[in-house]
Amino acid sequence: MSNKLSDRINSLTPSATLEMAAKARELRASGKDIIGLSLGEPDFNTPDYIKEAAKQAINDDYNSYTPVDGYVELKEAIITKFKRDNNISYEPSQIVVSTGAKQALYNIAQVILNEGDEVILPCPYWVSYSDIVKLADGTPVEVPTTIESDFKMTAKQLEAAITPKTKMLWYSSPCNPSGSIYSKQELRALADVLQKHPQIIVVSDEIYEHINYGVTAHASMAEFEDMYDRTVTVNGVAKAFAMTGWRIGYIGAPSYIARACNKLQGQVTSGANCIAQRAVITALVESPERINYMVDEFKERRKIILGLLNNIQGFQCNEPEGAFYVYPDVTAYFGKTLQGVTINNASDFAMYLLEYANVATVTGDAFGNGNCIRISYAASEENIREAIKRIEDALK
Ligand SMILES: Cc1ncc(COP(=O)(O)O)c(C=O)c1O
Repeated sequence: MSNKLSDRINSLTPSATLEMAAKARELRASGKDIIGLSLGEPDFNTPDYIKEAAKQAINDDYNSYTPVDGYVELKEAIITKFKRDNNISYEPSQIVVSTGAKQALYNIAQVILNEGDEVILPCPYWVSYSDIVKLADGTPVEVPTTIESDFKMTAKQLEAAITPKTKMLWYSSPCNPSGSIYSKQELRALADVLQKHPQIIVVSDEIYEHINYGVTAHASMAEFEDMYDRTVTVNGVAKAFAMTGWRIGYIGAPSYIARACNKLQGQVTSGANCIAQRAVITALVESPERINYMVDEFKERRKIILGLLNNIQGFQCNEPEGAFYVYPDVTAYFGKTLQGVTINNASDFAMYLLEYANVATVTGDAFGNGNCIRISYAASEENIREAIKRIEDALK
């Protein structure tokens, strides 16, 4: 911390997931054999048919600045995708393409929040939500959930969290980190509460939409006619298409919000990368079934990791219905001393696993729920088996 820097940056929490990944890299560089289960990154390569589209774009000389809100053809592909997969109709003026869903979320906070506006975040939430809200001078209002409710917020909890200052509700479904999915009925119950509070805008982060294991069908808040005009649907290609480094995300939103995001982006980053945008047109226009081989693999790994974790005393897991994380409650270890190390909280527990099991996970505190740790199973079966064995040994 330095007094030469702004209060804004000094009070910003570094991304816990990126920090843990950096720590794991450091330890690896010093010769330790670390298994990384901390990052939310598929261990697959981008599918060939998408890579080919990028190569073609280079050959076709796509190298100039792009329109700030995205190529027209990409916006058309996004419109087609929203209609095909989510039954939501958008016009081109309602779509903004950004440098990852992360920038899309940042834009939304910046264009909607004034100082002190409250944003309801059902916990656990994706690691960056709360800091993105704070960077826009908003106030995160955390609504705790438990493993018993499958880490989902009920309509009653939402109602209780609303104040005259509430400006937004943000959630991800499928949820990072819990893997929970809000069913259409559950979203309807939340929407019914929101009907009494027309000032509240919903941010529905659906980036894990296609990584769904078939228990609960994906549903979008903007599908409801009475929510369409007050919902921003956020999505991207990083997770389902194994395109984390390509940095393309997008929103479908009421036009006044899309216009505002476009204006902000125009002064900050300009349009997203030209080659990546061309590749994403192919990713979205092609049938999502083409990526099922990855989803099938994640499903198999989910079964394996749940089976292994449920055998370890003191781990309590919900059954994730989507995304590629398990979020076990590890409170049974709090207050215990292992190999001379006292575990007081989830951060101590994650650090203990890093040091004594050589496995990188992420503390649940980073997601607004300090009872759990997040373990990613976007890793090979071999690494998953070895990591959980090491964890089990370290906890004996
Ligand atoms: C729920 C959620 N939203 C948004 C993002 C950011 O996605 P992108 O890589 O497109 O910026 C992530 C990435 O981890 C995520 O898990």
